Amino acid sequence: MSELSQEAVLEALRPIEDPEAHRSIVDLGMVRKIEIRGDHVKVEIALTITGCPLRNVIQERVEEALRRLPGVGGCEVVLGTMTDQERARFRETLQGSATGGQGAVPPLLRPEVKTQFIAIASGKGGVGKSTVTANLAAALAVQGYRVGVIDADIYGFSIPGLFGAADRKPTLIDELIMPVEVEGVKIMSMNFFVPENTPVIWRGPMLGKMLRNFFAEVHWGDLDVMLLDLPPGTGDVALDVHQLLPKAKEIVVTTPQANAAEVAVRAGMMALKTGHEVLGVVENMSYALCSHCGKQNDWFGRGGGQRVAEDLKVRLLAQVPLQSGVKPGTGLFEPSTEAGKVFAELAKTVGGLIAAGLVAGR
Ligand SMILES: Nc1ncnc2c1ncn2[C@@H]1O[C@H](COP(=O)(O)OP(=O)(O)OP(=O)(O)O)[C@@H](O)[C@H]1O
Ligand SMILES: [Mg+2]
Repeated sequence: MSELSQEAVLEALRPIEDPEAHRSIVDLGMVRKIEIRGDHVKVEIALTITGCPLRNVIQERVEEALRRLPGVGGCEVVLGTMTDQERARFRETLQGSATGGQGAVPPLLRPEVKTQFIAIASGKGGVGKSTVTANLAAALAVQGYRVGVIDADIYGFSIPGLFGAADRKPTLIDELIMPVEVEGVKIMSMNFFVPENTPVIWRGPMLGKMLRNFFAEVHWGDLDVMLLDLPPGTGDVALDVHQLLPKAKEIVVTTPQANAAEVAVRAGMMALKTGHEVLGVVENMSYALCSHCGKQNDWFGRGGGQRVAEDLKVRLLAQVPLQSGVKPGTGLFEPSTEAGKVFAELAKTVGGLIAAGLVAGR
């Protein structure tokens, strides 16, 4: 029988990741103590917060790893809560010590970061920006991309609802916020911090600060792509996004109607004026399929998306039909629906652009 050592136990535990932080529990300093008596191993795990919702998951994973370790006859896993000092170290490991000081650059905003930022914009409200953001994010996640979504519509947040996650609360570790993860997508929204039915009354300057906080105080980890759902119009938030994320690209959403298209062009022009590339146009509510004959009905007019794409000299990336058939409790189209298929295709197109360094195809 092989001799058990502290190192062997530590190595056995190393592949276990904290379910929220997505980092090794060993690297995060969560393995507080290992006691070996003969073939019996007792491990103490320090959780970030008392009442950690994922405590059972962590306990099971540790027990399973110990049982599989050669030479272990019995094991015991004790769960404790981190001290302030342990928690500070945990946070530092996650965000890097640079975040401690004033004016430090949040990890995702550092110049060497490979994450691609795509803001979803429109001129008119209600054309489906949030629907496009959520469905594109979910479709990108299905294709294996590490995706985050920031609900930059601070007043009219709708991203958590579209993911069926409006009631979820993010885990807080000190002041570090874990994004809510659903459908493989990490999401952050004011929705999580505003008590129900309370009006959000921040003014202009607060908006920019809020957006910055979504980067500085949220542990996103490594992401391939971050989508930002903008409020309608060409307003302050779009400017804030452009300032905060100078490399961000834009997808412009429009409906086929002429008036929506006109305003969409203006939104796209603003992006271009501030030096931001527009990746392309998504036309939403393009048509409805007749449930009897399968014929396309153009209830909302025709040609808006194509016109916007031509005016902005970019590609029309997708035409999304008006569609029922969402996953229960969400605004995500079932993959088997026509709209679901369009989003899978759009995710492939956007994925291709990401791989090519997000160079807009003409
Ligand atoms: N392709 C579609 N098929 C069916 N319904 C849709 C489609 N796209 C959007 N909707 C519906 O239209 C409404 C508006 O969509 P959404 O909230 O995504 O628009 P928005 O542009 O984000 O609006 P706002 O400007 O208020 O932020 C929602 O009720 C949504 O469910
Ligand atoms: Mg919206």
